[in-house]
Amino acid sequence: MKNLILIGMMGCGKTTAGKLLAARLGLELVDTDALIEEREGRAIRDIFAENGEEYFRRLELNVSKELGLRQDLVISCGGGLPLREACMSALKLSGLVFWLDRDPGETFDSLDTSGRPLAQQGREDFLARYEQRVPVYRAAADYYIPNRGTPEDVEALISTIYLEDRSQSVML
Ligand code: S3P
Repeated sequence: MKNLILIGMMGCGKTTAGKLLAARLGLELVDTDALIEEREGRAIRDIFAENGEEYFRRLELNVSKELGLRQDLVISCGGGLPLREACMSALKLSGLVFWLDRDPGETFDSLDTSGRPLAQQGREDFLARYEQRVPVYRAAADYYIPNRGTPEDVEALISTIYLEDRSQSVML
């Protein structure tokens, strides 16, 4: 089955939705941040602190190219991964992209900022970062999913769309 790719801002619910979706659809869940941490043997915040954001973005590109060659995955992407066009083009061919969107103020207020180097500058900065990214997420996504209900609501909506979309595709 084609991959189910989740994008969206930090804290928008990708990990929670990803777990539920993988269980429901019988797909393997891959979290790009977790994969990078495992490969590097250190936490995201240490990668940023020791090598900087640009280095981290290159790691995201490597992971995107690799995962884009696989199938049967739910891929939960780091919030900034779509900023690199090349990351999304590598992933997009392998599946459907869902933008999970949640109110940014609400997101920041409930966010665990500790392991997130780009959420250290306060609420205003987070809201501005969100606004900058909206066009990027919109351009990258096949489907827009507002996250207003429970994680189960989100999972049900995404899995319905995913299965419906799949049933309409024709194998050539
Ligand atoms: C980032 C989001 C994080 C992580 C890194 C950078 C971003 O992932 O990749 O801290 O630029 O938005 P989550 O969206 O899983 O928090």
